[in-house]
Amino acid sequence: MHIKRRHGWEIPEHLATPESVFLDRRALLGGAAGLAVGSLLAPGRAYAAADPTADLYPAKRNETYTLDRALTPEKYSADYNNFYEFGTSKTVLPAANALKTRPWTIQIGGLVEKPFEIGVDELIRKMALEERLYRHRCVEAWSMSVPWTGFPLSKLVGLAKPASGAKYIQMETFLDKAMAPGQRSFLYPWPYVEGLTLEEAANDLAFVATGVYGKPLANQFGAPIRLVVPWKYGFKSVKSIVKVSFVAERPKTFWEGLQSAEYGFWANVNPAVSHPRWSQATERVLGSDQRVPTLIYNGYGEQVAGLYKGLEKERLFV
Ligand code: MTE
Repeated sequence: MHIKRRHGWEIPEHLATPESVFLDRRALLGGAAGLAVGSLLAPGRAYAAADPTADLYPAKRNETYTLDRALTPEKYSADYNNFYEFGTSKTVLPAANALKTRPWTIQIGGLVEKPFEIGVDELIRKMALEERLYRHRCVEAWSMSVPWTGFPLSKLVGLAKPASGAKYIQMETFLDKAMAPGQRSFLYPWPYVEGLTLEEAANDLAFVATGVYGKPLANQFGAPIRLVVPWKYGFKSVKSIVKVSFVAERPKTFWEGLQSAEYGFWANVNPAVSHPRWSQATERVLGSDQRVPTLIYNGYGEQVAGLYKGLEKERLFV
């Protein structure tokens, strides 16, 4: 089999980013590194010094969602991220300092009873936060196990009151080229968009994360609010959401728009279905050299396999 030698799952940064932007980014990284020495940052972590919801953490753990493996130490998961808005390398932590997470408003619209906007702090305080331990499997064949804090996506759907014609939920990341240097690259179809069927969104596992490791989300994890769908490849878990729409047609998602043969709408984890350029049979556990077998639906088949009855003709695992 011919395997193209590429780091990660896309094109290298020096190709993805015009040189001027790349140089700007390096300057920004330099500036951010300077800041890191100051009082704004704890080691290995980029976050708002005074998060208005900090008093809600740590939230009570929901023991229904536990793990068969060790949690990934924060020092590894907080320093190995995909957040293309801030660069295509894994070390986006310093660049993600530029993400301004307050004020932060989320628009809820499309096919709903009545569109509305809500401030992220008001939304978080409306919900009873809980902690859940979830596995996370990136399409690049690395994985981690993380204690997310947040609330079920079904609660957000309930608040939005979708109309009867709505079949999908679409979620979008902010669009701000001045703040996010990666968004100056014309090679990507910004803003980052993801979506689920309403049946998937209603599944108990679909989660909206506002925190991780017992604290509000650090910027590089997708502050202040992101999706977590642990039975799907990680690219479905859209970060830093500003817009939620209920729609009748299947959303055109960010990676599908770029390379639909490699990154589809469904993207359910399956060790038996290889990515066109690499096997998905095993995964590297972040923070170790260990490779472990990948599980169908990332180990959550009991909870989610039923969602796909009758959809066997779809490309469920790409
Ligand atoms: N959301 C946005 N807006 N931008 C991104 O680049 N990367 C995705 C997903 N959500 C991404 C995103 C990918 S590929 C993965 S694997 C996860 O976020 C990574 O989440 P983590 O950095 O918290 O591990």
